[in-house]
Amino acid sequence: MKIPILYGPRDLRMEEHPLDTDNLKSKDIWIETEISALKIGTDRGNYEGAEQVPGAPGYPRWVGDSNLGIVRGIGSEVTRVQVGDRVVTRQPHQSEYITDESASIVKVPDGVHPEDAVYTHLYALSGHCYRKGNFQPGETVAVVGLGVLGLGAVGLGQPFGARVVGIGNSPIRLEMAERMGAHAAFLYNDPDLDAKLDEFTNGIGIDLVILTANPWPAFRTSLQIVRDNGRVSVVSLLGRGEPPLDFNPLPMELFYNKGISIIAVSGAPGYLYPTPETRFNNDRQGDYIVSLMADGLVEPKRLITHRYHYTEIVKAYEMAYHREKSMLGVTFDWKD
Ligand SMILES: NC(=O)c1ccc[n+]([C@@H]2O[C@H](COP(=O)([O-])OP(=O)(O)OC[C@H]3O[C@@H](n4cnc5c(N)ncnc54)[C@H](OP(=O)(O)O)[C@@H]3O)[C@@H](O)[C@H]2O)c1
Repeated sequence: MKIPILYGPRDLRMEEHPLDTDNLKSKDIWIETEISALKIGTDRGNYEGAEQVPGAPGYPRWVGDSNLGIVRGIGSEVTRVQVGDRVVTRQPHQSEYITDESASIVKVPDGVHPEDAVYTHLYALSGHCYRKGNFQPGETVAVVGLGVLGLGAVGLGQPFGARVVGIGNSPIRLEMAERMGAHAAFLYNDPDLDAKLDEFTNGIGIDLVILTANPWPAFRTSLQIVRDNGRVSVVSLLGRGEPPLDFNPLPMELFYNKGISIIAVSGAPGYLYPTPETRFNNDRQGDYIVSLMADGLVEPKRLITHRYHYTEIVKAYEMAYHREKSMLGVTFDWKD
């Protein structure tokens, strides 16, 4: 099997590793990858050698975690999937692999396009930004940062019942946000941002900000635009790969006086669902996302900008490294 391994900053090498598919253990599932997708934010940070995410592996390490494939073999006690099922997992970019039944796996219903399904886990995380942020239908949501995760949050806004505005740092991304269903989209440094948001919200202000960008200016924008007593749901890894902070991130006028809540988008969804194994664990969020795809309510493939053969994977990572703005959805085809 083929797998790209990252040996250090910008040192990604495609390797051939053995895979014993003839001796599956009772809970093993053998999956052949059809396509995998690039998760630019985290993947780029690992590729360029930004501060290590706590708990993440060091070099040499695998890359990627959005993998769509077909089940080719199962162990004697596997019940979750059958041979021939199409599944989406959080496994790295690689041509095939063996995983355990207890790992994260979402079965893709018939009729869901593989290029939509490959984004299931990313969209589940975008959905988690709403749930952790205690979103209520009818609220006005601003998504700050319009990468794959941010545009996923924009795309879920309408099915979830939100009024959504995208806040980005490039006109290309504003246009993408509108294509994904944003009711409005503005540049974060638009001198008239406050007035435009005031008009957009009829003077009420933004109820929930979903922050998906690492740079501190994006954090400051989030605190500025959220209404008094509003919530800021932070899925980005604030400050990762960014220059050191040159201002107080929680000044009284933006935090204490406004009485806002800042929420980390990680872990279990909230007090209604106290443990990860209850209602909305990762895979159940994924099941919900693929059901929205099956109903035609979300369509991540609309924003695929680059389709590469797996042999071109380094080219794609280099484009991400150079922060190519026209690059958003990037998939790798694993057929030889
Ligand atoms: N919490 C978790 O479990 C988790 C899991 C996965 C990912 N993440 C994190 O979530 C974040 C989003 O992921 P992603 O793949 O969507 O990343 P991404 O592609 O880097 O998206 C962030 C976007 O925000 C833009 N941006 C930068 N500064 C901005 C500003 N001041 N105002 C508005 N937009 C600004 C970035 O532009 P530039 O490219 O020009 O900077 C980029 O387009 C990353 O930090 C990632 O590490 C978190």
